[in-house]
Amino acid sequence: MFARLRRTRKSPIIRDMLRENTLSINDFIYPLFVVDKQSAKNEIKSMPNVYQLGFDEFLEEIEECLSMGIKSFLVFGVLENDKKDECGSDAFSENGLIARAIKMAKERFKDKIYLIADLCFCEYTSHGHCGIIKDDDVDNDKTLEISAKQALVMARAGVDMIAPSGMMDGIISTLRNALDENGFYDLPIMAYSTKFASAFYGPFRDVANSAPSKGDRKTYQMDFANGKEALLESLEDDSQGADILMVKPALAYLDVVKELSQNTLKPICVYNVSGEYSMLNASKHLLDYERVVYESMVAFKRAGAKLIISYHAKEIAKMLG
Ligand code: PBG
Repeated sequence: MFARLRRTRKSPIIRDMLRENTLSINDFIYPLFVVDKQSAKNEIKSMPNVYQLGFDEFLEEIEECLSMGIKSFLVFGVLENDKKDECGSDAFSENGLIARAIKMAKERFKDKIYLIADLCFCEYTSHGHCGIIKDDDVDNDKTLEISAKQALVMARAGVDMIAPSGMMDGIISTLRNALDENGFYDLPIMAYSTKFASAFYGPFRDVANSAPSKGDRKTYQMDFANGKEALLESLEDDSQGADILMVKPALAYLDVVKELSQNTLKPICVYNVSGEYSMLNASKHLLDYERVVYESMVAFKRAGAKLIISYHAKEIAKMLG
């Protein structure tokens, strides 16, 4: 006697009936990169079909995404080098690039879009690190202070959700307190709760102009060899009050997603990062690209993710029709 598991795979209908995980366009968050220009559309060599957008093109892109059913966006400011400084002050200025981009998009599209802002400093600092440097390293608590300022600037600009990505200790409770004290108690925080120091971010640093001028991010982002610490990081952000937890990168880290999903009741997001996108794009002539993309996205859901940040979102929208 043995189990005839093939019995329930016999026809497309029974397979459809029993499918455990499916994709919805509502699962997807599409990253957008804004430069401080009225009009621009700069191609990125390492990321086909991903662009740095001027304000006009940024709004046009949102419009196009909306027509495809994509309603949620993760916005990054990409600052010109001559506007950067030691502490990334453009990021927490009321008139800074990210504040203006948020305001512009929310004024135009109101509640038709859900706008999430990446909260970090690497795109705004002259040295390209994710905070204020002291003794050759990022100073945790000084960076917390300016992070709180950045969160308030984003909140006042009308952002729908804040996503701190700098991996500073105490970031979630710091931002939660700052937001609550200023009346923004309904503004959710999505923590980049387990973010590894990963070579898969390489192409992003081209598009965001954010590579560290010296050194690396290993004193704040996590060692990719560590699984227990990965869980500890996310559970810490959970207990500090994060509304959504995130694992980043995604493809090579599904064990982390799975384990986290068994240890938290909060929704989990994965960031299907730039290098993962570039990797599949580069292998287009070697495999059935669309099917491989689709299969990867379903794998994120199977591992336990509810949300997927992905440069493939528009391709998925087309596939889902
Ligand atoms: C900023 C940030 C990074 C990414 C998202 N937010 C880069 C980094 O940490 O160096 C990576 C996204 C991607 O690779 O697509 N801290």
